[in-house]
Order: sequence, then structure tokens, then C-alpha cells
Amino acid sequence: MTYQELIKISKEKYKIDDKTIDYLIKHYFKLQEIDKSNNSKIDKEKVKDFKDKAELIKKGIPIQYVIGNVDFYGYEFNIKEGVLIPRFETEELIFYTKQYILNYFNDNISLIDVGTGSGVIGLSLKKEIPNLKATLIDISFDAIELSKQNAKKLGVEVDIYKSDMLKEVIKKNKKYDVLISNPPYLKEDEEIMDIVKKYEPETALYGGPDGLKYYDLILKDAKKILNDKALIAFEIGADQKEDLIALSQKYFKGTKYEVKKDLQGRDRMFFIFYNIFD
Ligand SMILES: C[S@@+](CC[C@H](N)C(=O)[O-])C[C@H]1O[C@@H](n2cnc3c(N)ncnc32)[C@H](O)[C@@H]1O
Repeated sequence: MTYQELIKISKEKYKIDDKTIDYLIKHYFKLQEIDKSNNSKIDKEKVKDFKDKAELIKKGIPIQYVIGNVDFYGYEFNIKEGVLIPRFETEELIFYTKQYILNYFNDNISLIDVGTGSGVIGLSLKKEIPNLKATLIDISFDAIELSKQNAKKLGVEVDIYKSDMLKEVIKKNKKYDVLISNPPYLKEDEEIMDIVKKYEPETALYGGPDGLKYYDLILKDAKKILNDKALIAFEIGADQKEDLIALSQKYFKGTKYEVKKDLQGRDRMFFIFYNIFD
């Protein structure tokens, strides 16, 4: 079977749309581009495995889980069911946080990624700023296992362990310059797409009745694990800006904060500059 034939049956038999077919073929066969004039035969075993994957996509399973990896901030991460699929918006959180770290901190910078999931935030920042000392924590066993796998895959040394929010972190008596988190922030009754509801882990999505539970838990304890000068960086829901301002001023009274918009113009990132002055 050739690539052309594979594209045809993906469309006709498995009812997969053009964009998804393109993504699937490129990722599965590790191609930059699909050369449609290439008439060489694809290995039979590969075709069979590809068809099995197409079947899963037809059933509605997210393509990232089917392929088992995602591209994020220029790096390839493994991904599996039970762990949240990283979203593009989170790349923007990394972009800004990296700038702030380089602007405001010098050597020996320590960072903690709270609710690390597949490890994308902590590990991408570690790749971008190699001398960073990064700690990644999550409550989910699957997330811990996967982020460890990803650290190995990317060839970086980081500390990864299980913690319910900051509980275990506080016990370790270590202090950090940067706390970054994309915690679960959906409201309990928020409507979400079926594909997300059905396949992505609930513990990664919901943040209590008002969606603010984890921001509150983190900010309440943050000073116990932060250095006297520190940066807090959060991904937030598009309608949570005012709530985050109130929470930040409750626990970090008078401290400077900043809200950043994502590329679609939505308020999606919140930064607290604790004793950081220009
Ligand atoms: C929105 S996901 C973010 C995952 C990843 N950081 C990302 O951006 O793709 C939230 C993560 O928080 C974790 N989490 C939920 N409750 C937690 C808790 N009590 N303590 C630590 N992590 C928790 C979930 O397991 C999940 O991995």
C-alpha cells in the first residue's frame, strides 16, 4: 500500500478528515511532509498497525492518545490516557515565564511545576534554561510515571514526586524562586466537549464549584515554599482574571501582578511578582 492509498482508505473507510489524516500520517511515519508522488510500498505490518490506529480515531479517541506523543514548545513528549493532553495556550505561559525568569533571576534558579501532568511545563522550561533546578509534582501516579518517562526522553535531570498540592513540598523544607502551575480550573458544572469529558482525566480538569479551589490552595501555602523574591505564574480560565486578582491580593497584599492575554486575545495567564521590582 502507498501513502496515497492509505490517505484514501483513511478518508473512505475510517471517515477521518483531511487535517487529521495529515497529522496521523506525518506523526506515525515521522515525516516532515507527505510526498504524494512517492509510490513505494509501505511495510505490511506498519499498514496493519496504522489501520488499528485509524480505527481508534474513528471511535473518537483523541489522536494524541492514539499516536502516543505530542509536539509542545518544539519538543516531543509522550502522552497516554489518564494524563491531560497539553494545550497550545500553555506554550504561551512558558514563553512569558521564560522571559521573566531571564529578566529577574540570575544563577541557581529553582522552579516548581505544580500539577505537572505529562511534565510539559517544567520540562520545557528546563530545556530552555538548562541551569534551572526544576521540581515537578502531581497527585496522579500516571502523571508522575509519564513525566519521568518524558524527562528521560528529553535527557534532563529534574526532581519528580507525588504531592497533593504543596503538602509534601512543604515537608521537604526547600524554597523556590518560581512556582508555575496550570491547575485544574474548570467550574464543576462547566460544559465541555464530549471528547474531553469522555477521555481526559477529571482530576486534571475541575477546580471545585467556582474553578478556583487549586489557585486558593496554592496561594494559601505559597509563601512557605518560596524564596523572599519569587515569581508565581498561572494559566487561568478566560473569565477568571478578577478572581485571581482578588486571590492574589488576599494572600500577597499589595504585590504587583500582571494578566497576559493569549494569541486569541483572552486573559489566560496570571503572574505575581513577589518582591520583584523593575
Ligand atoms: C490542567 S492539568 C495540567 C497538566 C500539565 N501541567 C499541562 O499543562 O498540560 C492539571 C494537573 O493537576 C494535577 N492535579 C490535580 N489535583 C492535584 C492535587 N491535589 N495535587 C497535585 N496535582 C494535582 C492533575 O493530575 C493534572 O495533571
